[in-house]
Amino acid sequence: MPIEFAERVRRMPVYPLAAGYDLGADIAMLASNECCFAPLPEVVEAASRVLGGVNRYPDPSYEPLRRALADRYGIPPQRIALGNGSCDILLAAGEALLEPGAEVVYAWPAFSVYPHLAAASGARAIQVPLDDEDRHDLDAIATEVTVATRLVLICNPNNPTSTAIGLDEIDAFMRRIPGHVAVILDEAYCEFSLTLGDTYASLDLLRKYPNLVLLRTFSKVYGLAGLRVGYALCGAEDFRIAVDQVRQPFYLNAAAQAAAVEALRHQDAVEKRVTETIAGRLEMEGAVRALGLWVARSDANFIWLHLPETVEEADVVSGLRDRGILVRAGAALGRERSLRVTVGTDAENERFAHALSEVLAG
Ligand SMILES: Cc1ncc(COP(=O)(O)O)c(C=O)c1O
Repeated sequence: MPIEFAERVRRMPVYPLAAGYDLGADIAMLASNECCFAPLPEVVEAASRVLGGVNRYPDPSYEPLRRALADRYGIPPQRIALGNGSCDILLAAGEALLEPGAEVVYAWPAFSVYPHLAAASGARAIQVPLDDEDRHDLDAIATEVTVATRLVLICNPNNPTSTAIGLDEIDAFMRRIPGHVAVILDEAYCEFSLTLGDTYASLDLLRKYPNLVLLRTFSKVYGLAGLRVGYALCGAEDFRIAVDQVRQPFYLNAAAQAAAVEALRHQDAVEKRVTETIAGRLEMEGAVRALGLWVARSDANFIWLHLPETVEEADVVSGLRDRGILVRAGAALGRERSLRVTVGTDAENERFAHALSEVLAG
């Protein structure tokens, strides 16, 4: 007789995992919005240095990393939540805020983990369609906020569509949201955004709205996806306390903590990566447009394009795969006949553009 699992496990969507991690070095991994640059040698060294002491548990105060982030962003350490990737904080927020009878509101398509929050908690998910340019429709989202709403998720720039909305619009949106409703502004890709300006810009909103949380990660621009470090800058301390309360005490391993602290010391390298990624993104957008396809105006380290009616998405994805290029099919992310493609190295981007033109030419 099979094991009987909780009802909520049957409700939970299975996260669309990317394949290809075992395919070898000649594959262009453009499916998971990772950073194509290896971590800096100083960061690798900092992580390696602590490995000799891992007979001890990691420091559960996370003080050095909390302090480094507090210094960088001018937020008190007590208002900084950390996590085993920002996903960890997201899921903890779902656990801390949601329950049967509560509602969570977010745009769709957005980050694939969001549906998990309602499924895991028994809350109701309200998914609000994006507008015609595949951007968040903040007006429609605000309209869906009711007395039952506990949490609103805004993905800015949005994964998978790469689009961002300006902070003036977010400010106007926040004015419409009651103070007891938590709003998570998921800024996993904010460093790559020209629309948002610099990474300090949204901090002004935190001063105005204690119910706001800026969710960020070391997985993208800092190139530490494999170590799993995320953080949240919180408008008020109670959010940090609640997400810590629902998790195990040692959610961030020692190597991850050391690497993240070191990574913050190298902002010049981060800037250089951003510049190179934006240049690559513009090249890719141009190449896709030259093929006559619609491509969103990207503010992230990936692009989002629509395929013509005349081709099958699965055929394009497998055609690219046959040519050694892994991309994400829109169908797995909430919109069919689309592709999400991560900006890679110059060579990978050129390879993608060439392969796409071949595949579309049939
Ligand atoms: C919008 C968004 N938020 C959060 C995450 C989670 O990132 P991590 O858990 O690696 O910090 C991702 C990862 O792809 C993402 O796209």
